[in-house]
Amino acid sequence: MQQLSVVILAAGKGKRMVSDLPKVLHTVGGKPLLGHVLATASGLEAATRIVVYGHGGEAVKTACAGEAGVIWVEQAEQLGTGHAMAQALPLLDDAGVVLVLYGDVPLTRPETLRPLVDAARRGRLALLTVELTDPAGYGRIVRDDTGQVRRIVEEKDATPAERALSEVNTGILAAPAAKLRGWVAGLGNDNAQGEYYLTDAVALAVRDDVPVEPFAVADLAEVRGVNDRRQLAELERCYQGRQAEALMRGGATLLDPARVDVRGAVATGRDVVIDANVVFEGAVRLGDRVRIGPFCVLRDAIIGDDVEVLSHCWIEGAEVGAGAQIGPFARLRPETQLAAGVHIGNFVETKKTRIGPGSKVNHLTYLGDAEIGTRVNVGAGTITCNYDGANKHKTLIGDDAFIGSNSSLVAPVRIGQGATVGAGSSVSRDVPDGSLCLTRAPRKDVANWRRPVKPKKG
Ligand code: UD1
Ligand code: CA
Repeated sequence: MQQLSVVILAAGKGKRMVSDLPKVLHTVGGKPLLGHVLATASGLEAATRIVVYGHGGEAVKTACAGEAGVIWVEQAEQLGTGHAMAQALPLLDDAGVVLVLYGDVPLTRPETLRPLVDAARRGRLALLTVELTDPAGYGRIVRDDTGQVRRIVEEKDATPAERALSEVNTGILAAPAAKLRGWVAGLGNDNAQGEYYLTDAVALAVRDDVPVEPFAVADLAEVRGVNDRRQLAELERCYQGRQAEALMRGGATLLDPARVDVRGAVATGRDVVIDANVVFEGAVRLGDRVRIGPFCVLRDAIIGDDVEVLSHCWIEGAEVGAGAQIGPFARLRPETQLAAGVHIGNFVETKKTRIGPGSKVNHLTYLGDAEIGTRVNVGAGTITCNYDGANKHKTLIGDDAFIGSNSSLVAPVRIGQGATVGAGSSVSRDVPDGSLCLTRAPRKDVANWRRPVKPKKG
């Protein structure tokens, strides 16, 4: 089979973004626009992915460093889409086919593009087109009396009659590499913008009797580009709409599909319920019957079956065991591992902490660098003092221990199995198994105590 090269045009400045960041690095669903296009190319099993870059090239390359096998070609001066394509031509194998995508059009589906690639493999020039009620700004598809596509005319070069055409060029096209090479070499820049238009390849194909095959796209979102922040926001909503659809198709209930955001990938079990204003980032896995309350952020988290996360929780880099209850207002930070049935209540922060089955940390607590056994009760206001200004130290709490409220556990320290720490203690030495540790200062009562009084004025 003729190998596919995908050429991604991404050298445009993106002035209307009013940004220091190159346009293609602005994100949709947490991923750069260009990242989406590269993923689409991968979805088509492209043998080569070539990015024509210009403005902010180094930043773009750095941001895409994780993408293996991308070939970068610089277009030093932006002289038009035809000129951009010319920069990539030396890298193309004449035996193959080329698909041209735009770095700022992120939501095209591989399924939509496959027929274009197939047409190119049959020797044709394939165009992705769309019908628009307001075609302003786009190149128009000009057909002859028999309905055959003759050429594309850019708006700035169009006659009033041509401007009235509502079938427009999305810019996405596919062709045999050898033919495209010939057409691009023949492009001129005698037009309103003084640019080399890749779209003029259509008239050249007609001249050469190469069939031009238009493919109309049904879902507008697939061909929408980003020129300004408003369009970026619109595409973000389109993208999130797709994510919500996918979650619901997978069996999740979304109380409001318009108020869930996925910036990464979420896998859900059966009968998951997600309340309003929940944000997922990175890779998140939710087990069966998980319930996520409103206003939660989950980033890179694994949540076990039957877990309930109440409102306003931040869960990052954490693993939560089956049946656990989290929140409201809890913050689980990276390397938190909660076993089955753990309860984490309001204003509790955990970091690099393992908590055993059935243990409860219900209120106002910080646990960092801690290992906590099973059935432990950590009272309100408990703090692991894990940091001495230079080093982090561990706190170990044995099974069935009970930590009284408002205790400071000064690490490194171990609280033994079944041990009890009295409320208000500051514990800086290990507590043996089964014993009670109390560090309160002895109480003193002074009867009839007279508070000092301010001298009367005047
Ligand atoms: C282009 C098409 C137009 C189509 C429209 C769809 C041409 C001549 N016109 O117009 O028919 O309706 O897209 O959005 O092709 N780019 C470069 N180097 C350049 C110029 C552009 O890499 O010198 C890249 C841009 O980064 C962008 C893409 O090509 O990703 C399209 O460029 P843009 O300036 O938006 O093209 P339009 O004039 O809108
Ligand atoms: Ca454009």
